[in-house]
Amino acid sequence: MAPGEFVQPGNADFPWDKFDPVDYLDHNYTTMRDDDRQVLTFVRDFFVRISPALIDRPMRGIDVGTGPNLYPALAMLPFCAEVTLYEFSKSNVDWLATQHAANWPSWTTIWSDFWRVLCEESLYAGLDRADMGSELSSRTKVTWGNVFELDSERDGYYDIGTMFFGPESLSPQRSEFHSAIDRLLSVLRPEAPFAIGLMEHSAGYDVADNRFPATDIELSDVTDYLEGRASGLSSERVDPGDVPIRDGYTGMMVVCGLVAR
Ligand SMILES: C[S@@+](CC[C@H](N)C(=O)[O-])C[C@H]1O[C@@H](n2cnc3c(N)ncnc32)[C@H](O)[C@@H]1O
Repeated sequence: MAPGEFVQPGNADFPWDKFDPVDYLDHNYTTMRDDDRQVLTFVRDFFVRISPALIDRPMRGIDVGTGPNLYPALAMLPFCAEVTLYEFSKSNVDWLATQHAANWPSWTTIWSDFWRVLCEESLYAGLDRADMGSELSSRTKVTWGNVFELDSERDGYYDIGTMFFGPESLSPQRSEFHSAIDRLLSVLRPEAPFAIGLMEHSAGYDVADNRFPATDIELSDVTDYLEGRASGLSSERVDPGDVPIRDGYTGMMVVCGLVAR
């Protein structure tokens, strides 16, 4: 390396174990934002649209980099006997494991609002019950793991998958953004449906006292990369509206599709 040459940091250079799930949850999900509602509705409608093609057997789902956000897992719930919440940060894994063991106390304060949006469709409403927190515990599994090490030989294939804020929110390096998408798709069986949520033109984000990275991307970066890797793509860009969640991004994006055969 030449003297003074800048080496861009990568995923491994950031303090993921210090990611504060409570601060992140408070800032992002305590009140449902209109952009999250639009993203969730888009994913719900995609899964409902393709549901006749989903084979009628208990499926395995995976949400990669769950953090404390349950809505991607909730969107997969009607199709899954089990959803793996796959997370790298030890603090996030601890938070998820504590919630899981206690039948999701955050259900009543936060996630029931997101679930109500899903229940506008009968596939979800048919699953609704008084004690959704314990239902969720029985259908989810919390697993520590690194997206870059996802491996179908070790992990098997999943039938449906999500990754939210997400492949672009783990590294400033474009190659790691691509690699995160590749690794997610690599553990999904051919033709498995997936949904990926992303931030547009993100400059990175603060959680409590720590700064985390982002890859600066827009929708075509995702759809172009998925060309040949997936079929039946549908996508949406959602404007941040009058109250952006923070500085340094220009919108949310969601891309759904089926893994290439
Ligand atoms: C911006 S947060 C998104 C959290 C959540 N999915 C959401 O929708 O709000 C990025 C997440 O990626 C996780 N993450 C970072 N590096 C990872 C890695 N190498 N493998 C898996 N997850 C990782 C972080 O711990 C964090 O939970």
